Amino acid sequence: MKTVLAVLESTAKYFADRGVESPRLNIDLLLAHVLGIKRRMDLYMVFDRPLSDHELDTLRDFVKRRSQGEPLQHLLGTVEFHGREFFCDRRALVPRPETERFVELILKFPLPDDARCIDVGTGSGIIALTLAAERPNARVQAVDRSGNALRLARDNAAKLGLTERVELRQGDLLATCPGPFDLVAANLPYIPTGDIAGLAREVQHDPMIALDGGADGLAVVARCVTEAHERLAPGGRIALEIGHDQAAAVNTLLTDAGFSNVESVRDYQEVERFAFAMKT
Ligand SMILES: C[S@@+](CC[C@H](N)C(=O)[O-])C[C@H]1O[C@@H](n2cnc3c(N)ncnc32)[C@H](O)[C@@H]1O
Repeated sequence: MKTVLAVLESTAKYFADRGVESPRLNIDLLLAHVLGIKRRMDLYMVFDRPLSDHELDTLRDFVKRRSQGEPLQHLLGTVEFHGREFFCDRRALVPRPETERFVELILKFPLPDDARCIDVGTGSGIIALTLAAERPNARVQAVDRSGNALRLARDNAAKLGLTERVELRQGDLLATCPGPFDLVAANLPYIPTGDIAGLAREVQHDPMIALDGGADGLAVVARCVTEAHERLAPGGRIALEIGHDQAAAVNTLLTDAGFSNVESVRDYQEVERFAFAMKT
């Protein structure tokens, strides 16, 4: 019989040998999931517990898929974002830590209490749903071109009890969303098409529509900047999450579209990851 501790140690080594990042964290979370243990720390209370054959079989399947590059969040089926649990699967992009920082910064904007907000390219709905949860009087819409993403966003709205608070629509950028808005927030696809094949194995499990930003990576973002300027009310803000080397190009797009107060803001890795601006 294999114990929890023996499985943790042998699988951490197995993952490390196969190039899985943070091997111990991965096996801790997978095993806790299989055993129905909520908090990772609680695994340490059951180190000597033997695993049943059924538990071992389930875990083996997860370990195999993880070592082949399937994202941890897809295997767990959920992801934590800004203190809330969201469903996470292949229907939309796996939420990234940078986007948590993006939302934290947006929540500091001096917006009216009942601000009209839209999350463009909502994916799993994390940005729109977090804004709705944190700003109970805000009027929040979210749009995505992908029907799959919208279905996941709907599942997440229901999970968080926010179905009535966020209006979800299918459409191309702001074409179906007349506004006016006080905030346009968008984490749109920004990877140059030619770079996608070289990205990590895990990223290859994200939907192509969530990654592909065209030849220079900015095809979708550039259209969004123009449409946002048309839809924002005076004093309204645009907030964009962008690629690591796109700050200068995006600042030019924003300035050319007529925005003022254009600024690039760094994420916790010191990368200029966010572009903010105001419509005057
Ligand atoms: C990088 S993902 C971000 C998802 C989510 N906002 C997040 O931060 O995790 C980009 C999203 O934009 C959507 N998208 C791509 N092109 C779009 C378009 N033209 N109009 C609306 N949504 C689009 C994709 O389907 C995808 O869900």
